[in-house]
Amino acid sequence: MTPLEIKPYLSEEDLQKKVSEIGAALTKKFKGQKVVAVCVLKGSFMFYSDLIRKLETEVTCEFFGVSSYQGTSSSGEVKVTLDLTRPVQDQHVLLVEDIVDTGITMNYLKNSILARKPASLTTVALLEKPEALKVPCKLDYVGFKIANEFVVGYGLDYEGYYRNLPFIGQVQNFQ
Ligand code: IMP
Repeated sequence: MTPLEIKPYLSEEDLQKKVSEIGAALTKKFKGQKVVAVCVLKGSFMFYSDLIRKLETEVTCEFFGVSSYQGTSSSGEVKVTLDLTRPVQDQHVLLVEDIVDTGITMNYLKNSILARKPASLTTVALLEKPEALKVPCKLDYVGFKIANEFVVGYGLDYEGYYRNLPFIGQVQNFQ
């Protein structure tokens, strides 16, 4: 694969500041409650691990693996690669996603969790591309609304690579 040209877009500082803000808001919201924090794999692992460290309440961790992307576009079909390991019935669930693009994945995940009858479901996405939405997708917390451009880093990949970048960058040179 030809290395991509990546233009810095959101710095480590921007990301950490936003994570702290969302963490503080969630701490207030969930005060005194136990929370099941669900990490959507693979893209949200970095955001998730930073965010849960800012949650000052009792948290258990669950992982939901899904994939819908091929290259730089959504296939529109959500495949579950890893399901939750425990029931979430009657529990407060916090669903943590990296990015909402068409909204198809988030809708699928919301429906899948709501079908398990949690006490409540709160959704958070680090990034949202409002211009790319294909289905209505209401989120409780959004870090940054961004343009409809492909981004990598801080957990987000292109063909499996670039997840380990500590910042988020826009890809400049797609073939
Ligand atoms: P959606 O179902 O179209 O909303 O896509 C959501 C998933 O697509 C995210 O969880 C990401 O894994 C992936 N995705 C969407 N946009 C980007 C991007 O700009 N960079 C990397 N992955 C993306």
